[in-house]
Amino acid sequence: MFHVVDTNIFDRPLLDDLCDLTTLARTVAKSPEGARHLQQLAPTMRAMLYFTQPSTRTFLSMNNACHILGIRTSEIRNAEVSSEVKGETFEDSIRTFSSYVDLIIMRTPEAGYAERAAQLMNSIPRPVPIINAGSGKDQHPTQALLDLYTLERSFENSGGIAGKVIGMMGDLKRGRTVRSLSRLMRHYDGVKLVFIAPDRFEMEPDIKAYLAEYGIPFEETGRLHDVLPELDAIYVTRMQSEHDVDDESSAVNLAPFTIGTHELDLMKKTAVVMHPLPRGPEIAVEVDQDPRAMYWRQERNGMWMRVALIAKIFGLDDEIRAIASSIG
Ligand code: CP
Repeated sequence: MFHVVDTNIFDRPLLDDLCDLTTLARTVAKSPEGARHLQQLAPTMRAMLYFTQPSTRTFLSMNNACHILGIRTSEIRNAEVSSEVKGETFEDSIRTFSSYVDLIIMRTPEAGYAERAAQLMNSIPRPVPIINAGSGKDQHPTQALLDLYTLERSFENSGGIAGKVIGMMGDLKRGRTVRSLSRLMRHYDGVKLVFIAPDRFEMEPDIKAYLAEYGIPFEETGRLHDVLPELDAIYVTRMQSEHDVDDESSAVNLAPFTIGTHELDLMKKTAVVMHPLPRGPEIAVEVDQDPRAMYWRQERNGMWMRVALIAKIFGLDDEIRAIASSIG
């Protein structure tokens, strides 16, 4: 594994390996001795966080994942303060970052830029890995990994993800998290997806074609209450209003696409509620108190999954296993 630009690079053994490594890293880090060992894994390495689109948890969890492994970080969070304002091209900027660091983690408002950066890296003498931390409306592969890990942990006593019915609700048209997670479902037998979206915000045809190609059953509805009792997980997303061209998000009545205490009553006792966050009104704060609310754990899982991913990129996974064995 070198670049992590989209979900296509993952197969089932790699996903299982990353989930195991995530659990191992978080377990090791619980003791001060283990945390110190982790910090000594990559103290000479440097990473660049290039985020030209707003982020709280992806930025912070990537940054802290680097620090957990001893990797020092630098950042640009606004192209207005980089030499891009002087006319430097995207490619020249990325190549410049690669002169100083060993890893570039990037988020852009536009789709396809992480791929462009990876292609550039593949053409220069000193390439560094590119991690896509969110590219426009298209992909958010590391979010899909942490979502997968959260699902696996939620279902660890009920046979894992295989055979589960997973609902995805909200602005599915422009939500990159649900697009990336849907793609990963092909690695789990017997999963059924239920897409619940307001009119005009349904899942895009390319993802539906992908699911059809891999034989993953899915249904689409605008009626949450009809399908809620059959779901093992409901993955809720907000309206992606940053992509509005004519304030179209504000015209949507979100009430039928909201989880509150009444919806909790309709759900299985074993079902989980997930959300990539940040949330809008689509999950009532009262839901936070319910043990089925998984989104706060989900965001913390993100840091540990990103530790595992970065460790894997740099071939540090065996060393994490050795640390785990040595400290018992
Ligand atoms: N889930 C997610 O990508 O959150 P941020 O936008 O806060 O990074």
